[in-house]
Formats: sequence, structure tokens, C-alpha cells
Amino acid sequence: MGENLALLLGKSIDADKRHIGIYPVGQDAIAKVGFNGAIRHEFDIGSYLFREGIAVPEIYELIEAERVQRYCDKPINKNNWYIIMQKIKGRERGLLFGKDKKEADKQIKEEVEKVLGLGILPYDCFNGWNSIFRFDIRKLFLIDFAAWEKGCSAYELNHFRERLKANIKPSD
Ligand SMILES: Nc1ncnc2c1ncn2[C@@H]1O[C@H](COP(=O)(O)OP(=O)(O)OP(=O)(O)O)[C@@H](O)[C@H]1O
Ligand SMILES: [Mg+2]
Repeated sequence: MGENLALLLGKSIDADKRHIGIYPVGQDAIAKVGFNGAIRHEFDIGSYLFREGIAVPEIYELIEAERVQRYCDKPINKNNWYIIMQKIKGRERGLLFGKDKKEADKQIKEEVEKVLGLGILPYDCFNGWNSIFRFDIRKLFLIDFAAWEKGCSAYELNHFRERLKANIKPSD
């Protein structure tokens, strides 16, 4: 993406385009806002997962408020940071039914298995809003890594795995 993402985000903020906490950034990207530590954690995990070939959006940039403010008139909180990532054009898993839901449910388990293999606990991933199914390629993408944890012990990973096998939502 060679575009100036901070500029596109600034325009989106000025135009009040925020929806469910997310700003559209041009046609193909979105921005999620947060404070430094939390959002940096999400940026690091997402970038790592993408590099490892997990089905997550491509993570483009982490931008500080000051840089976005140059391109928008609305005052924005100086402590804000924005992750810009690929927009997944599809539907949240919790809104699927029938054949689509079945496929998405199968894929989420496979993907979570890979994530566990990387020593990461994907807390919250079974929340119906935290994955999106693309109908054009019939593929589910995991989003929202805010609560995910890196470097987990084998004990914790196995616990999560066992619950998955038993068909218990690990977050329950
Ligand atoms: N990359 C993306 N592409 C398309 N839609 C997205 C993307 N990221 C988030 N969304 C949409 O925005 C909603 C909220 O995003 P997300 O789940 O990351 O944040 P959150 O649950 O509000 O925040 P947090 O868990 O960090 O408090 C998602 O449920 C989804 O509908
Ligand atoms: Mg979420």
C-alpha cells in the first residue's frame, strides 16, 4: 500500500465515518483505535500471525495521533494510536448459518490449532464478532487480538486444546 494511510484516516475521522469502533480507510483498509500499550500488543501479534501464514488481515501500519492530526480538523486524543489493517469484506461468524456456518466453524478450529502451535492463546476468538467469513474465497479470518497472549506454557495451551476437542468454548 503506497498510499498515505494517515491522510485517508484523517479524512475518515473528519467525515465521522466511525462504525462499531472502526474507521474505514479508503476502500480496502480499516483503522482500529486504542492506547499505546494495548494497541501495540495487537499490532505485534497480528503482524506476527500474518507472517506465519495464519488467516488474519494483513497488518499495514501503526500510526500515532500526532501524524493523523496533521490531516484532520477534528481534535483527536493525543494518546490515541491506530492500527491500519486490511479490511475483510465478508460477514462475522456469529451472523452465519447453514453451510457457511459449518464451514466457518470447521475453519476456526483448524486455525486455532495453528495459533496454539505458535504458543499463542487466542482468548475471545470464539466470540461471534471476532472472525469474518469471506464468501468470495470461502475463507474465515480471525480478527481482534487484543486479549491474545504470546509465550504461553504447554499446560495452558493443552488446557485450551482439550476444551476445544470436548466442544466447549474455551472462553466459557
Ligand atoms: N479487519 C477488519 N475487517 C473488517 N471488519 C473488521 C476488521 N476488524 C474489525 N472489524 C469489525 O469491527 C468490529 C470490532 O472490531 P474488533 O473486534 O477488533 O474490536 P472490539 O471487539 O471492539 O475491540 P476490543 O476487543 O479490542 O475491545 C468487528 O466485530 C468487525 O465487525
Ligand atoms: Mg471484538
